[in-house]
Amino acid sequence: MSMLNQKIYVAGHRGMVGSAIVRTLRDKGYSNIITRTHADLDLTNQAEVQAFFSQERPDQVYLAAAKVGGIYANNTFPAEFIYDNLMVQNNVIHQAYASGVKKLLFLGSSCIYPRLAVQPMSEDALLTGKLEPTNEPYAIAKIAGIKMCESYNRQYGLSHGIDYRSVMPTNLYGPGDNYHPENSHVIPALIRRFHEAKVANAPEIIIWGTGSPRREFLYVDDMAAASVFVMELEKATYDEQTQAMQSHINVGFGSDVTIAELAKAIAKATGYQGTINFDSSKPDGVPRKWMDSSRLNSLGWKPKVDITQGLSLAYEDAKIRL
Ligand SMILES: NC(=O)c1ccc[n+]([C@@H]2O[C@H](COP(=O)([O-])OP(=O)(O)OC[C@H]3O[C@@H](n4cnc5c(N)ncnc54)[C@H](OP(=O)(O)O)[C@@H]3O)[C@@H](O)[C@H]2O)c1
Repeated sequence: MSMLNQKIYVAGHRGMVGSAIVRTLRDKGYSNIITRTHADLDLTNQAEVQAFFSQERPDQVYLAAAKVGGIYANNTFPAEFIYDNLMVQNNVIHQAYASGVKKLLFLGSSCIYPRLAVQPMSEDALLTGKLEPTNEPYAIAKIAGIKMCESYNRQYGLSHGIDYRSVMPTNLYGPGDNYHPENSHVIPALIRRFHEAKVANAPEIIIWGTGSPRREFLYVDDMAAASVFVMELEKATYDEQTQAMQSHINVGFGSDVTIAELAKAIAKATGYQGTINFDSSKPDGVPRKWMDSSRLNSLGWKPKVDITQGLSLAYEDAKIRL
């Protein structure tokens, strides 16, 4: 069977990343993509997931369903963050294996790395130190997901021909992002604030901290392209670049921006003309956080969308949602 006819289940297809993966697969000519909404299939429910996999028997799975949120949500609902994420990934990965799925891609996050990891963070920083406490439950679930894929490969790789891979994205943004006032990541939160300030003709926007911390951001369609790229790699190539017990691959933009540069770029994308000021009495967080993506780059993948273009595409979508 041609790769393009394979039956592919994208879990979380209504989310920012899942919807971008579906777009990318369709653009590449994949013609047999299956999806289920959260209402139709609750992935925390073992019996429902088992029934779904034994009925549909997909060839490949992209696991982009997860409970996701910013610091506020992670701090307020730590039990839900660890329970839901462990349940979703345990059910999907195990039932994928049990129903004969040969290829699966698990999406993790850069928060799997220790709080004080050497920058840029390379794949081998995993499990070398303490995690950031605010999102530790979420990060522990994501680490368990990587280890689950690795353990299934080690135990069932040869006997069942399974090949389960993991990618760790940096901060993502783009169409389908979450613009909730308290529960969103930095780019959608700032897009919302700049949009509202523009509409209200507010003369000034104040941003917490000095504006000097540096952060890395990747446009979500680039993330989706990287996901499909990693999934399509020959097994021998993937195995050459990874190890059985350190098999994940970072996906970053490759360079970072200061929060001040980001704010200016968002002002430009949204058309906000007022003044941007920084409240340096508020905490900055860690000075710099970015991923070492050299493993993925050496395999031949590079992002296409820079922050200026990405922010204007994101704002086109945000205007409809805000
Ligand atoms: N966004 C980022 O900056 C970022 C950065 C690094 C890594 N990632 C990773 O990328 C993946 C996708 O993130 P995202 O930003 O696309 O999140 P998202 O927009 O919140 O999408 C997640 C999707 O998963 C679905 N889902 C959650 N729980 C479910 C359940 N129990 N049963 C069925 N569906 C369920 C959600 O449906 P409902 O909305 O209906 O619940 C939603 O459609 C996650 O693994 C995340 O860790 C994201």
